[in-house]
Amino acid sequence: MVIADIVDDATADAAVEMVCADGVEVGGEVSFVRCDVTDEASVQAAVAHAMESYGALHVLYNNAGVMIGDDDDPVATPLATYERTMDINVKGVLLGCRHAIPAMEQTMASGGGTCSIINVASFVAHMGAATPQVAYTASKGAVLAMTREIAVIYARRGIRANSLCPGPIMTPLLAKFLSDDAKRQRRLVHIPMGRFGEAVEIANGALFLASDESSWMTGQSLIIDGGITAAYTTPE
Ligand SMILES: NC(=O)c1ccc[n+]([C@@H]2O[C@H](COP(=O)([O-])OP(=O)(O)OC[C@H]3O[C@@H](n4cnc5c(N)ncnc54)[C@H](O)[C@@H]3O)[C@@H](O)[C@H]2O)c1
Repeated sequence: MVIADIVDDATADAAVEMVCADGVEVGGEVSFVRCDVTDEASVQAAVAHAMESYGALHVLYNNAGVMIGDDDDPVATPLATYERTMDINVKGVLLGCRHAIPAMEQTMASGGGTCSIINVASFVAHMGAATPQVAYTASKGAVLAMTREIAVIYARRGIRANSLCPGPIMTPLLAKFLSDDAKRQRRLVHIPMGRFGEAVEIANGALFLASDESSWMTGQSLIIDGGITAAYTTPE
């Protein structure tokens, strides 16, 4: 497994350690490669690192994504925020696919079974959010559309592609965005299960999409959101 991210050395070491921790089965070694998903050479190098280190590439999990603090409505959102969001959240996914797919084809040509691409979108790709974040929402809608098309292109060529759409998960991204209790409560009333999700609950969905358990599933969007998109809720 290769973890590719822009984080500093200490965070990278902690991530590798966490994945290698007792009880976590990754089926082999774990390594970290510094990679900026907006930089094509960097993405290309990360894929090359995976192929050189492990000789095959079966799964691409396009996870990198940002929600920038001043992302707002169409009038107020700075263009720089829109462009940076699209760069990371959409171009990053494209570049990941652009370089991973030939490596996957090479893997399959040498008898390596089928492959799976998982692009992380969001529940906001399926529904509007009353609290505006137009750049982020547009970027995740683009991920859904791009993933569907990739799925159709490669459906008969051994590569499946699905989107994974989390609801609000208490990761650093959300903790920073929902920094006060009023903001948190405003979201919680819309979650039928009454709580934010845990990262592991998304990881379990990713495992399903990565594995042959989902072998006849492609072009889909797996929503894991505590029931948000199924509900018409009103504050009590
Ligand atoms: N947390 C949520 O509530 C939530 C909900 C729906 C979707 N998502 C999506 O899930 C994914 C993971 O989000 P998270 O909540 O874990 O956020 P996070 O901020 O905790 O993690 C995002 C990761 O992306 C990395 N990253 C940012 N820019 C990068 C770049 N240019 N190149 C390489 N790596 C880069 C960061 O270093 C970080 O490790 C994102 O795509 C996000 O949009 C999150």
